Amino acid sequence: MSFVKTGPDRADFTLIHLSDFHLCRPEKASPLAFANKRILSYLSWRIRRRRLHDPEILDALIQAVRAQAADLIAVTGDLTQLALPAECDAAHRCLEALGSPQHVFMVPGNHDALVSAGWEARWSRWSDYMRADGPASPGRTVLPALRVRGRIALIGLSSAHPTRPFSAAGRVGADPLARCSDWLAEAAQRSLFRIVLIHHPPVPGMVSAHKRLSDADAFARMVQRHGAELILHGHTHQRSRVYLPGPRKPIPVIGAPSASAASRDPLHRAGFGMIRISCTPAGWAATFQDHWYSQEDQRFVPGEEEPISMPHHI
Ligand SMILES: [Fe+2]
Repeated sequence: MSFVKTGPDRADFTLIHLSDFHLCRPEKASPLAFANKRILSYLSWRIRRRRLHDPEILDALIQAVRAQAADLIAVTGDLTQLALPAECDAAHRCLEALGSPQHVFMVPGNHDALVSAGWEARWSRWSDYMRADGPASPGRTVLPALRVRGRIALIGLSSAHPTRPFSAAGRVGADPLARCSDWLAEAAQRSLFRIVLIHHPPVPGMVSAHKRLSDADAFARMVQRHGAELILHGHTHQRSRVYLPGPRKPIPVIGAPSASAASRDPLHRAGFGMIRISCTPAGWAATFQDHWYSQEDQRFVPGEEEPISMPHHI
């Protein structure tokens, strides 16, 4: 069991959630690098997506996040558009700009696993940002991973793996879900606040069939049995809050927009969520505050801080 506790044993915790950088760097790639599914994503980028994502907005978001001095920054995947090595390097620089691996915890998305050849090797430069607390285990995949910060337990799951053309689906897999179940159960016994990070929304019906999490039902059964206090995801590129059934009360599931979105639409414009967690005599309390990009002011603007209904009392 990997319950290595780091950080002060205090109950107040501030988490920032961001997602879906979609960094695209096709310029110096060899034509051979596109002799696979990558060509479809590249065409999608040329035709439509390059107008939807703005690297300058991502840079502004990173500066705005750094200014908040949160306890931990969670990044829920699709750091790259085409999973090219140059994009993985650029994404690594963004992670470094956000903070040290101790302070930034990421999971990959389907775009990061776009092509099968060498997909896990390309992620190796991000491994410090994905791995669990404690010493690395040779021969073991980095994810799933558990981090404990004071009374907060964070579980990172990978739903990203190579898929057939025209599919953006995801899957966690039986073994990672079993390890996640064990962690959720043990963290509950320790009265920790449990947060699960995953790229694909683990809620049936939120996205079309070719973008879905294929084992969403198994995920839902897991959290219905063991509970969780909060689930964070990306993939949809829009702000959302839905609930999954928990053992006693519904579990909040929060989706983040793309961190580089050039949209002015309130659902889709670039942003990050700030989640403040505290332990009160009545149990866990949490609030959510959106920060969204104002095209007029060219800066990120905080929204209202609002309570998140919590599934458990301790
Ligand atoms: Fe995405």
